[in-house]
Amino acid sequence: MGSNLVITKEIENYINNHSLKLTAIQNEIISYNNSLGDIKRMQISISQCHFLHLIIKASNAKKILEIGTFTGLSALTMSLALPNDGKLVTLDKNKETNKTAANFFEKANQKDKIESILGPALESLNNLKIKGNKFDLIFIDADKENYKNYYVQSLDLLEKNNLIVIDNVLWHGEVTDHKKQDKLTTSIRDFNSYVNEDKRTENLIIPIGDGFTVCRKL
Ligand SMILES: C[S@@+](CC[C@H](N)C(=O)[O-])C[C@H]1O[C@@H](n2cnc3c(N)ncnc32)[C@H](O)[C@@H]1O
Repeated sequence: MGSNLVITKEIENYINNHSLKLTAIQNEIISYNNSLGDIKRMQISISQCHFLHLIIKASNAKKILEIGTFTGLSALTMSLALPNDGKLVTLDKNKETNKTAANFFEKANQKDKIESILGPALESLNNLKIKGNKFDLIFIDADKENYKNYYVQSLDLLEKNNLIVIDNVLWHGEVTDHKKQDKLTTSIRDFNSYVNEDKRTENLIIPIGDGFTVCRKL
């Protein structure tokens, strides 16, 4: 019988010390985010970086869409895992963080592989759909209230067998704490149930970082 493991800070450090290594620029983004204070929690965790790297390599993804760039850690991670002729499109509405991310992409020599689209993500997704874009993998990590909209829109931008990865689905563990009935926690719970019941995909929640759901389009 399997047992449930509680991931302490020590275990997390052990995992990071016995897994893939980040590049200098990925570490620089993390240091920069640390300097921002509480907002650094926006970035994905180191083990999530490695998970994205491996899933991109293993699935031979060449065209990736990200919803939620922030200062660029996940975008750069995914771009570095792509082949030289791969492409990553990343969406965010924040001009300032987009500029920071663009500087990191340039520093890491990934500028030519990454296209940043500034604006509300639902509008950008609609434009990508109108133009007939398709992606091999879509990573959703923006405003939680719109997760269901992003997921539904993403399905139109994927072929069969392609993947959607969604961050924060365990919401610091609060999804199982029924005393928590605030809007964000409730919307994550509703989203998780919606995805799990959706016959268009099969899904698995993976307990790394704040929780990743991986969906395969059927
Ligand atoms: C959690 S952060 C993304 C973190 C990033 N994936 C990383 O690992 O560094 C969420 C981002 O979504 C963006 N965002 C929030 N609502 C948005 C919207 N409606 N349209 C586009 N971007 C949005 C925010 O500006 C923020 O940069």
